Amino acid sequence: MNIQTIPAVPRFKTILNSARFVRNPISVLSENTENYGATYHTYIGGVFPAILSTDAGFIQHVLQKNHRNYKKSPIHFEKLGHFLGNGLLTSDGEYWLRQRRLIQPGFHRDRLAGLTDIMNGVLDDFIASFDRRIAQRQPIDISENMLEVAFRIIARSLFSTDVGEEELEKLSGNITRIQEFLARQIRQPFKEGWFRLSGQVRRHEKLAAESDEIILKYIRERKESGNKQDDLLQMLLDARYEDTGEGMNEKQLLDETLILFVAGHETSANALTWTWYLLSQHPEAVVKIRREIVEKIGDRPPEFADLPKLEYLTQVIEESMRLYPPAWITDRVAVDDDQYNGIDIPKGIAVVTYIYGAHHSPDYWPEPEKFIPERFSKENKKKQAPFSYLPFGGGPRLCIGNNFAMMEMQLALARLVPRYDFRLVEGQSVELQPLITLRPKDGIRMRFQIGAGH
Ligand code: HEM
Repeated sequence: MNIQTIPAVPRFKTILNSARFVRNPISVLSENTENYGATYHTYIGGVFPAILSTDAGFIQHVLQKNHRNYKKSPIHFEKLGHFLGNGLLTSDGEYWLRQRRLIQPGFHRDRLAGLTDIMNGVLDDFIASFDRRIAQRQPIDISENMLEVAFRIIARSLFSTDVGEEELEKLSGNITRIQEFLARQIRQPFKEGWFRLSGQVRRHEKLAAESDEIILKYIRERKESGNKQDDLLQMLLDARYEDTGEGMNEKQLLDETLILFVAGHETSANALTWTWYLLSQHPEAVVKIRREIVEKIGDRPPEFADLPKLEYLTQVIEESMRLYPPAWITDRVAVDDDQYNGIDIPKGIAVVTYIYGAHHSPDYWPEPEKFIPERFSKENKKKQAPFSYLPFGGGPRLCIGNNFAMMEMQLALARLVPRYDFRLVEGQSVELQPLITLRPKDGIRMRFQIGAGH
């Protein structure tokens, strides 16, 4: 079998569909999967040849078994790297490996225990301001609120209390605007000339420079003060390369910090938002979560050691990321010719691992569109095909923040779900907006009320 013999979307069709692809790539890709099968050849945007797959074996081959043959696509370096520098998410090869080895131990589950207090502190403040918002009796966009809480969690986990309110707002605004611009650049490559001519590239470069300046200030202040904190910045400052015994230089510290900021909040915020949405549709799950928290923890804030006890809540989060994977797609480029299961993968072709498609595939998930958290019980997990569920990616480039993200989502939901009664605003329709991450288009408006007993 070669590339001609795997099903191929006719080129004219990819061109015809390119406008719809920009608007709603998930509808196009899922329709293709239905028509052409789990692995097929296509042209992204009618231009770039690609193999797209929802086949868990294929995905495992690319991300793990033969990962050396697959580099991240130029999107990661050229576009993201231009604004975000050369950090874990945007680097490759030897440099990436050295950085990953250096930083990985800092994200070990046990090392994260120290962040529980920081996260609980952010949640205390959030609850106080959320209560005030609720008192105004207006619908609340849960998407906006989860973005705020996740941003504060990553900011304080990086810098503890060093960072002031005003600068936090500035950083948050700048990073959001840069991310939105990046999404437009990636989806509308044909507008590149216009983005430059109209001064948009320059404007966003200025925002990036401003954010760099704020972050550098904190790095320098921490270094000079000699004050040690139990946070991620301290971990980055203290990390030493195995070969030289040296730490990172200032530019490296800046790049890695910025990448953690960017990679570390929108994804978690989206996962939390989709979970609220699903819970609003499944009151029986809310009852079970509340019961589990009362039984396992009581009414104090959860501590790190409590988190493994929250089995059902964790299943809900996992099922939510199956239905709505925040990182809904990822891509690589084949460095050399390769084969998987008789399929030729020619050098230079884009290989798209369609995470959303794998998560919705009836090959792996009976009744795939149904919300069934019990799919992720200990017993059921053992039966899942490897790489059929990969919200955090897989192989050596598995998300470094996966434990951090699980921990913040568990803590946030364990504190917020028992406190509030909530429902979707009447008539609220929910539409997918797959940009760099999968978010709800125009947010999700809900009504909240402080529940009985709080
Ligand atoms: C629900 C939340 C999250 C999801 C769904 C998610 C998903 C992912 C995925 C799928 C990748 C791999 C991308 C690829 O293979 O091309 C990734 C990489 C990465 N993530 Fe996350 N992530 C989340 C939260 C976080 C957090 C909280 C942090 C930091 C605190 C973080 C930092 C990173 C970094 C630095 C990488 C690049 C790792 C490398 O290439 O070595 N992520 N993430």
